[in-house]
Amino acid sequence: MIIFSAPDYNGMSRKAANLISAQVILKPDSVLGLATGSTPLGVYAQLIDWYNKGDVDFSKVRSVNLDEYCGLAPDHEQSYHYYMKENFFKHINIHLENTHVPNGLAEDVAEEGRRYDALIESLGGIDLQLLGIGNTGHIGFNEPSESYIKETHRVTLNQKTIDANSRFFASKDEVPRYAVTMGIGSIMKAKKVLLVANGAGKAEILYQSLFGPITPEVPASILQVHPDVTIVGDEEAMSVI
Ligand code: GLP
Repeated sequence: MIIFSAPDYNGMSRKAANLISAQVILKPDSVLGLATGSTPLGVYAQLIDWYNKGDVDFSKVRSVNLDEYCGLAPDHEQSYHYYMKENFFKHINIHLENTHVPNGLAEDVAEEGRRYDALIESLGGIDLQLLGIGNTGHIGFNEPSESYIKETHRVTLNQKTIDANSRFFASKDEVPRYAVTMGIGSIMKAKKVLLVANGAGKAEILYQSLFGPITPEVPASILQVHPDVTIVGDEEAMSVI
C-alpha cells in the first residue's frame, strides 16, 4: 500500500488526478471505476482542466460507477447518474454509451446486480477503481455488516450515512433509504485501487481502515489485502496516520 499525504484538498485532488491520467495515458481504453460524494469533485475538476489543455484523452475510456440511490431517476439532481454527467462526463470527450452507473430504478435489484457484475466482467474488469470513504468506513455503499457481500446488491443505508448525505437533500426525509452498490468482489478484483480522503472527519475511520483489524464492520479495511492500493489524503485526514 502506498500512502500519500497532500498539504490540502487541492493537493490531494491533483495527486489523485495525476494517477488517473497516467492510467489513461498508458492504457487509453482503461476501465475506470468511478466514485461520487464530495471528495472526488476536485479530482474530476482537475481532470477536466487537463483534458481542456489537451493533456488527457477520454475517447476510448470505459467507466463503471460504484453505486446509485434506489428510487432516484437518472435526471434527479441527487442521483449519481446526474452527478457524474454534471461534474465530469459532459465536460470531457468520454462517450456516454461507454459510461455505466447501476440502475437505481430497477424493480428487480438482484437481477440488476447480476447484469452489472456481468457488464463489469465483459469489459475485462476494472483497471483503476477510485474510492472515497464514508464516515462509517463504507466504500461504494458497502455499509458495516457481519459479512462482506461480493456481488452488486441492494443495501439499507446506515443512519450515519443518511445523516451525512442529507446535506445534499432538502431534508433528511428525502434521502433514499436504500442504494444499489457494487460489491466488495468487483472492488477487490480491480487491478488498482485509489482511495481519496480529506478533512479531519475522515481521520479516525481512515486510520481504522488502514491499520485496524480487517473486518466487515469497517468495510474499507478489506483494502489492506488488496495488492495495489494507493491512498491519497490531505493533511487533516492523515493527521492520525
Ligand atoms: C457517499 C458515496 C461513497 C462516498 C462516501 C463519502 O455516500 N456512496 O462512494 O465515498 O459517501 O462521501 P463524501 O466524499 O461526500 O464524504
